[in-house]
Amino acid sequence: MTDNVDWLKILAQCNVNVRRRIEPFVKTLSKPLPDLGIGAGGDPIKPVDLAAEEAVTETIRKHGVSFTLISEESGIKKYGDNPDQFYVTADPIDGTTNLIRGIPFSDTSIAVSTKPMINCIQAGLVADLIHGTVYTAQKGKGAHCEGRRIHPSKPRPLGEAVIGLDLNTYKVEEIAPRLTKLIQRTKHIRHLGANALELCYVADGKTDAFVDLRGKLRATDMAAAWLILTEARARITTIQNEPLNVELSPKSRVAFVASGNAEMHRTILDLIEPGTER
Ligand code: IPD
Ligand code: CA
Repeated sequence: MTDNVDWLKILAQCNVNVRRRIEPFVKTLSKPLPDLGIGAGGDPIKPVDLAAEEAVTETIRKHGVSFTLISEESGIKKYGDNPDQFYVTADPIDGTTNLIRGIPFSDTSIAVSTKPMINCIQAGLVADLIHGTVYTAQKGKGAHCEGRRIHPSKPRPLGEAVIGLDLNTYKVEEIAPRLTKLIQRTKHIRHLGANALELCYVADGKTDAFVDLRGKLRATDMAAAWLILTEARARITTIQNEPLNVELSPKSRVAFVASGNAEMHRTILDLIEPGTER
């Protein structure tokens, strides 16, 4: 699919343009930014999110490529004569709260697929907007960070593992008890506030796993990270240990466990109490 379009090059340019476009906002980080209504994913849109999305679409359009945009902010938009040729799933800024509060952990996340399904993603980029670190993957060609092939962590005892947990939900009374046994066995729990980048940390072994059972995270937020994890040969499944076969749409939500290796994955799945999500 990507034969005649160098998507990794285009995605790299998108990242450069997103960073350039958000620079004025980042300089005024301490001032809260006004909301501009509710985005297609259901959260308030900030001017910085819209500026980043424009940077993505403008960059791709300059290459004369037709595509359908699936974005957390604007929903679905079609560009060019043949928009069903490529689907570009973007979370232009993941970690907006961090960005506007001056917490240096947020990213831009962009995936390209042939159909609006997660398992049809062919290329993906997650780029740290503050430190400039860029993670990429192409289907069948591995995952890379700054040109270096990345690999997830090897099995280690749970007590030594660094585990990401997202408990950012009003359903905490339902979700938290299901994680008690896992939390009891670990010593290094993290939540950094930008889930796509946190998933890339699993892909390159900085952390050992990331667990998000909320069913709240949008598929748009983790589409690119899904390919990066998969190409790095990390694991990402439902808590029933099934593949995440999710439609790419601003409305799709996911619950999952991502782990650096099969042993860690099994250990974590065994410690999680079952729920109703798939
Ligand atoms: C958010 C971050 C955060 C997660 C939220 C997401 P956003 O992304 O990934 O870590 O807890 O559920 O919505 O809204 O900044 O793109
Ligand atoms: Ca976002």
